[in-house]
Amino acid sequence: MAEVTMKVNGKAVTKSVKGNTLMTDFLRDELRLTGTHVGCDTSQCGACNIHVNGSLVKACTMFAAEAEGAEVSTIEGQSAADGTLNVIQQAFQDHHGLQCGFCTPGMVMAAASLLKENPKPSEAEVRDYLEGNICRCTGYHNIVKAILAASGQDVSAIAAE
Ligand code: FES
Ligand code: FES
Repeated sequence: MAEVTMKVNGKAVTKSVKGNTLMTDFLRDELRLTGTHVGCDTSQCGACNIHVNGSLVKACTMFAAEAEGAEVSTIEGQSAADGTLNVIQQAFQDHHGLQCGFCTPGMVMAAASLLKENPKPSEAEVRDYLEGNICRCTGYHNIVKAILAASGQDVSAIAAE
């Protein structure tokens, strides 16, 4: 066991962890931040996406100990303290960008990262960026539409599905 200290959603956290504790298990089991989902064991689905020092990371691909000193953001840190959704979350709600919702935290975290790098992406760029995110409900159409809307682009010509 080793002590690890990091900031998670702005709060300093210090815990003892095993060297092989995955970040997903640390967030879910130690911090009870269960919005970070685990949808595969092959690093493919993106349901576990978080931000580490501002970069998009699949939390199942890192050990908690590797986050020593890092600034970590999870889906729980995306809305305001009073629960007000951020612009991406609101766009997912407005454009029905989810069905069962299992992939949604990872999609929102990926979208936030994309819009930081590319504030007005094309539809093709959004689809390309989401390559590492799998939606089992196959709801990609409305997810892409929601992200375009969150970027402030007019999506009125894109049909609802
Ligand atoms: S749980 Fe991390 S990519 Fe699927
Ligand atoms: S909304 Fe069900 S997995 Fe994407």
